[in-house]
Amino acid sequence: MLMAKLAVPLLSLFFFLSFISSQAALPLQTPIQKDHSTSQYVITAYLQTPLKLTKLLLDLGATFTWVNCDDYTSLTYQHVPCNSSIANLLGAYTCLDLCDGPPSPNCGNNSFLFLPDNPIKPVDYRKVDGLNTALIDSFALPNTQGSLTLINNFIFSCARTGFLKGLAKGVTGLAALGDSNISIPIQINKVFSSSPNCFAICLSGSKSQPGVALFGSNGPYNFLPGIDLSKALLYTPLILNPFGKDSEPDKPTPSSEYYIGLTSMKVNGKMVALNRSLLAINGKTGSGGTKISTVVPYTKLQSSIYKAFILAFLKEAVSSAFNLTTTKPVKPFSVCYPASAVKNTQMGPAVPIIDLVLDRPDVVWKIFGSNSMVRITKKTVDLWCLGFMDAGVNPMVSNWIGGPSIVIGGYQLEDNMLKFDLQSKKLGFSSSILSVGTNCAKFKFSTK
Ligand SMILES: *[C@@H]1O[C@H](CO)[C@@H](O)[C@H](O)[C@H]1NC(C)=O
Ligand SMILES: *[C@@H]1O[C@H](CO)[C@@H](O)[C@H](O)[C@H]1NC(C)=O
Ligand SMILES: *[C@@H]1O[C@H](CO)[C@@H](O)[C@H](O)[C@H]1NC(C)=O
Ligand SMILES: *[C@@H]1O[C@H](CO)[C@@H](O)[C@H](O)[C@H]1NC(C)=O
Ligand SMILES: *[C@@H]1O[C@H](CO)[C@@H](O)[C@H](O)[C@H]1NC(C)=O
Repeated sequence: MLMAKLAVPLLSLFFFLSFISSQAALPLQTPIQKDHSTSQYVITAYLQTPLKLTKLLLDLGATFTWVNCDDYTSLTYQHVPCNSSIANLLGAYTCLDLCDGPPSPNCGNNSFLFLPDNPIKPVDYRKVDGLNTALIDSFALPNTQGSLTLINNFIFSCARTGFLKGLAKGVTGLAALGDSNISIPIQINKVFSSSPNCFAICLSGSKSQPGVALFGSNGPYNFLPGIDLSKALLYTPLILNPFGKDSEPDKPTPSSEYYIGLTSMKVNGKMVALNRSLLAINGKTGSGGTKISTVVPYTKLQSSIYKAFILAFLKEAVSSAFNLTTTKPVKPFSVCYPASAVKNTQMGPAVPIIDLVLDRPDVVWKIFGSNSMVRITKKTVDLWCLGFMDAGVNPMVSNWIGGPSIVIGGYQLEDNMLKFDLQSKKLGFSSSILSVGTNCAKFKFSTK
C-alpha cells in the first residue's frame, strides 16, 4: 500500500524533471534529406499532440510554416483569434468571422487566416477549395540527447491539400526558415532566448544519407572524422531587401529572403565582366542583388550575367590547364563535357574554380567542380554539365517587385556549411567541406 502511494508523487516528480531537462536542451538538430526526383530538400519536424513525424519542404526564404490540415488531428491545437495580440504580431490579415462546419483545425469562428503559397508550383487560389486558418500547436525537434524538445505555442498556417502540388512524396507542408518574426528559428529563440539566435544548415546530395539543420548553437558543429565546422567559417553581412514578394506598389513589406553582397565573380582567378549595377538591390524596385535559396535547384543568373559567366567558363575550361571541349548538352543544361575528358579530384571534377567575391576581396565563396558540375548518365551519354541557369533578362518576384540578379541554388549549397546569425545579421559559410575531408552526410547525430 505504501509503495503504491509513493509511486505517484515519484512518477510525477520524474516527469517534471524530464520535462525541465528537455526544455533546457538546445541545440536542436534534425535531418535534411534530398528528394532526388524533385531536387527538394526535406526537413523532419514533429507536430500535433501526440507528436507526429512531419516532413516539410525546407524553404530558407519563407515567412511562415504551413502544414496540410485536411488530415490533422491534435489534442492541443488552437485557432488565433482575430484582433488578438498574436494576430497583430502576424501583421495584415483577413478574418474568418463565422465558420459553419463543425469545429476543426480548418474551421473556427473568429479565426485569423493566412495566405500560404507554394514556392515550387504557384497556387491558383481560385481553384483551391477552402480557407487557410492560422493554428497554434505543439512543435518539436530532436535535441543533442536524441529526445524531442517541445515548442508549445508554435504558430503556423493550415494549408489545403491543393497547396501540396509539386512537393516531394510524403511532404505535407513547408518549413519556414526565413527572416521573419515567426520563422522556425525565431520561434525557437523566443522560447530559449538565452541560446544563440542562429541556425545552420548543411545540405547533402546523398540519396540515402541526410544532411542537417542545427538551431541555437554557435558550435561545435561536429562532423566525422572529428571536424568542427564552426571553426571553418568566413562571415559576410546578411542584407535586407525592403521589397518582399507581398509588397504592394505603394506599401513595401520587407523580404524574408536572405541576401548577401556579392561584388564580383571570378572564373579560374579571372574577373567576369559583369554589369555591377545588377549586383546591388535597387532601392526603388527591390530588383537585383544575390539571394540564397533552397527551393531553386541550380543557381540562376540574370541573362547578361549568365552570358558573361558562361563565356568566361568556356574560355578557361578550354585552356591548356583543363583542355576541355564541350559536347552536345543535355537539358536543362547548356554547357556539358564528356565525363571521360574530365579528371576527378577530391573536390569533384577538375574544372575552373568559380569565386564569389563578397563584401571584401578576401571574403570569397569558392565553388569547386563538386558544386558547379552535375553528372548526367543516360543510356548513351556520360557527361559533366555546368549547373547554372539563365534567369532571364528581367527576373521578377511578383507583378511589381523585381527579382534578384543571382539566386544561389541548392546544388551549389550542398556540402557547404552555412550559419545564419540572426543576432548580428551575418552569414557564416565554409565553401566546400570536401576540402577538409568531410561532407554534410557525416554530421554526428546522437545515436539514441
Ligand atoms: C477586429 O478589428 C476590426 C478593426 O479594428 C473590426 O472591424 C473587427 O470587427 C474586429 N473583429 C473582431 C472579431 O473583433
Ligand atoms: C511581424 O511581421 C509582420 C509582417 O512583416 C509585421 O506586420 C509585424 O509588425 C511584425 N511584428 C513585430 C512585433 O515585429
Ligand atoms: C460559430 O458560431 C456559430 C453561431 O454562434 C455557431 O453556430 C457555430 O457552431 C460556430 N462554429 C464553430 C466552428 O465553432
Ligand atoms: C546595367 O544594368 C542596369 C540595371 O538593369 C541597366 O539599367 C543598365 O542599362 C545596364 N548597363 C549596361 C551597360 O548594360
Ligand atoms: C587536349 O584534348 C584533345 C582532345 O580531347 C587531345 O587530342 C589533346 O591531345 C589534348 N591536349 C593536351 C595538351 O592534353
